[in-house]
Parts: sequence; C-alpha cells; structure tokens
Amino acid sequence: MESFLLSLGLAALLLSGAAAQKPAYLGALLIEPGVNNGKCLTAASNNDGAVVTIQGCTGADAQKWTFDGGSVKVFGNKCLDVTDGSAADGVKLQIWTCNVPNGSQQFFYTSDYHLAWTDHGKCMDLTDGNQSDGNRIQLWACSNTNPNQVWNTGYMANALPQTSESGQSGTNICGTGSSQTSQCQTAWINDVDDFCLWAPPNPGSTIGDTEREEVAWCTKSGRGARTMPAGTLTGVHFVKTPDYVQVTGVGDFTKINIRRGDQGGELDPHGADGNGNPIGGLVFGNTFGAARQYHEWTSFISDTEFCFRACIGPNAARNCQHIYDVMGCFWNMPANYDAGTFESCDADDDLPMGVYGTSTWFQGVNPTPPAHPVAPSSNCRTIPTVTASPVRRRRDNGAFEREFSGRDAFGVFPTPAP
Ligand SMILES: *[C@@H]1O[C@H](CO)[C@@H](O)[C@H](O)[C@H]1NC(C)=O
Ligand SMILES: *[C@@H]1O[C@H](CO)[C@@H](O)[C@H](O)[C@H]1NC(C)=O
Repeated sequence: MESFLLSLGLAALLLSGAAAQKPAYLGALLIEPGVNNGKCLTAASNNDGAVVTIQGCTGADAQKWTFDGGSVKVFGNKCLDVTDGSAADGVKLQIWTCNVPNGSQQFFYTSDYHLAWTDHGKCMDLTDGNQSDGNRIQLWACSNTNPNQVWNTGYMANALPQTSESGQSGTNICGTGSSQTSQCQTAWINDVDDFCLWAPPNPGSTIGDTEREEVAWCTKSGRGARTMPAGTLTGVHFVKTPDYVQVTGVGDFTKINIRRGDQGGELDPHGADGNGNPIGGLVFGNTFGAARQYHEWTSFISDTEFCFRACIGPNAARNCQHIYDVMGCFWNMPANYDAGTFESCDADDDLPMGVYGTSTWFQGVNPTPPAHPVAPSSNCRTIPTVTASPVRRRRDNGAFEREFSGRDAFGVFPTPAP
C-alpha cells in the first residue's frame, strides 16, 4: 500500500516537472548518495564538459550545488548537464556553462529525495551502486525502490549556514561555547555521554506546541548549545548498530523546559511542509565517519522519557521511519529504558517500525500490533552517570573528536606497549 502510494506520488511529480521542486535546505548544498553520507557529488573541474563523480566530502566549491530555477549550479555559472542531451539509460552527467532553458540542464528534486531530469522520467543514479571515489554519475529510469537514486542534501559540519530552512527560529552556526539561552539547532549523537536532545527554548512548554522551534540540549559543552542540568538524565542507553545510532532513557525533562505531565511528541527532519521539526534542526555524529550528517533521524521526548535514533545507508528512511508519531518511544525504538544504568553497547538493528514480515501496519488501523522485540546487544560498557562535561576535540585537525570519544575513558582501548 505504501509503495503503491509512493509510486503514484513519484509519477505525479515526473509528469508535473515544470513545477520545479527544490530541497528543503537553503543555500549551497552538498549532494550525498543515500547509500553513503560520506560521499559528495563532485565536478571534476569548472570546465565545460567536466565529469561529475562522487568523492569524499570536503566542502570544496566543486561539491557545493545550488538549486536555482530548475537548474543545479556549481561554481556560480556552471550547471549539471546531461551529456549530449541523451535520454538513454546510463548517460553520464557533466557540467556545462548554464544556458537556461537548455533542456539538458533542467532538474527537480522529488519529495522522496530523487534528482529527476525534468520531463524525461530519468533520475540521477549512483552508477552500479559503486561507492568508490571517482565513480561517474549517470541517469537511469526513475525507480522509487532503487537506493542508488536517493540523494540527500546537506552541509559540512564545519561550514553550517546561519539558518538551513526558511522559517527557522534558531541557528545552525552554534560556535564552540555553551549557553543556557542558546538557540542552537544543530544536534550531535555520539555516545552514552555525548548526545543532544531536542527540547523547548522556554520553560513549561509542551513538545506539541513547540515542535517547530526546539533547540539542542547536549551533554557536552563546547557545541554552542545548551547543556542538560545535573539530574536531567537518570538512565541512558546508547546502541550502535550496523545502520544507526540510538540513545534511549529516562529522566526529569522538566529541567530542559518540558511541562510536567506533557506526554511529549515526535520530532524528525521532515515536518508536514517538508521542513523539519524543529525547522532547520540538523543532526551530526562521528560514529560512521567524522562529523557525518544524519539525513534521517527520529526522536520522541516527554517529561520523563526520550528516544533518539539517527540512521545511515540504503535503509535509513525505513529504520528511522517517523510516521508512527503517536506510538511513543518503546513501540518505535524497542530498547532498554531503565533508570540507574548508563551504558553504551553494540547491537543488531531492530526490525523496522511498523513492518511485520511482508505487511506494513499504519497508525490508527485496528488492532495495533505489539512492539518489535529488542534487538540483541553486546560489548556493553557502563559508566556511573552522565553529567555535562566539555567536548573533547582532536588536536590534529582542531575540528572534531574521534568517534566513540568516551571509549578510552571506559578503559576499553588497551595501553600500547612501551
Ligand atoms: C545545451 O548544452 C549542451 C551541453 O550539453 C550544448 O552542447 C548545447 O549547445 C546547448 N544548447 C543550446 C541551445 O545552447
Ligand atoms: C568503482 O568505481 C571506481 C572509480 O570509477 C572504479 O575504479 C572501480 O573499478 C569501480 N568498481 C567496480 C566494481 O566497478
């Protein structure tokens, strides 16, 4: 049912390509294959005919694309261009001096994150699913089931815009300080003692009333966000699976402005208008590579409980499905929520929320199925508690801490022999 509806949606978009659609994000954007958020669409040079490949993301000008009037621009005056205007499957993309309305340069971005060649039913496709640097990018008949056609847009963590979506109440440039009045809307999720939660900017608020303007409350100072006051967290469980990181737990979230008794709500990067809840909320982490942006994430928080999952890879959208917004934490993210324990584990993926074998359940349909079982976990490390502490940074590049920065603190890394 769901994929049938998605097919109709995509077909409708392909027929109405004239109404050029753009990503929700503002400014010059990285364009990353959905299967690998560490790679970026890259022009080989700024010459006409320069090939377009994927390369590791650096934020270079050759990776900064601007959606403008149906064209996708790089270097100011060059446009993503279909070589020779060929409509054959497998035609490679290049850049060429923008010559609107050259039909070979007209693209639109779909609501399911495809970049489609206007009026041709062809979509940008990661050739052979090959994630190696230098793979030339092609067009292929659009398919809503082919993960090689999903392209996310975003930013380098060290080059964020003031605001990333229109209507944003706060900012993504948060600095390296910390302030309890910060309007920072850039969150990190790294480990049991290093994550942020989305919560209201003003005391006594419900999530429902403030979902578009939540700000980041972090366990680490130094990210320019607010820090969670002592006593906020009374149990935290972090897992790293092959496809996501997840943090779940309990606490007193009136300390981070949630009204006592609020049942809370769901937050994700795709609100009803395509902007996020909160608008402009961006999520980064170091688990799957330094300072990677998570394009798919979902989070619930009430006055006493939270869960936050951030997903990567070809199944990111389904592992971070956000349509079950009244089902709460445990049903969406079956995990340990116990008070009194602060732990970090490896784990298998949970089954995707709402998916039961070959059928998909939709919220509101009777009967409501049970939550999936909690996936097995291993290699758990516990720490006594989690309180706000300064973020640790790498000296070599001065920018970002190592993944699992807390591991050595847990004594897991062996001491090297002298
Ligand atoms: C359209 O762009 C192509 C490059 O792909 C170029 O060869 C062609 O001359 C352009 N057409 C027009 C009408 O400018
Ligand atoms: C993947 O792409 C790279 C870069 O173009 C190429 O060198 C390599 O042979 C490709 N791998 C496969 C399996 O096609």
